[in-house]
Amino acid sequence: MSDYTTVAKVGQIPEGRGAAFEVHGRMVAVFCVQGEYFAIDDCCPHMGASLAAGCVQEGVVACPWHAWRFCVYDGTWCDNRRIKIDRFEVRVQGDAIQVRVPPEP
Ligand code: FES
Repeated sequence: MSDYTTVAKVGQIPEGRGAAFEVHGRMVAVFCVQGEYFAIDDCCPHMGASLAAGCVQEGVVACPWHAWRFCVYDGTWCDNRRIKIDRFEVRVQGDAIQVRVPPEP
């Protein structure tokens, strides 16, 4: 059994934007950057806004509430690179965008 979950079809997430999906009880933000897909935790660690609603520029998403910025490639918080939010593996199978979200410990 695959441990990847299909969340959307190729083309459903516009370039430079994100979309949020529930996978195994977690909200995951999937972004499209230059035709590739990247997934991080959707919940902003500041006050819980959906990062998927933010705009992406040069691989960085700005939280829509107070503009904290996170790298969509690895989840790094741009203002303190020692702090990261979770990132998840993404693959495209056919026209399906799939993410791998391990169960919470
Ligand atoms: S909730 Fe994201 S920066 Fe405040």
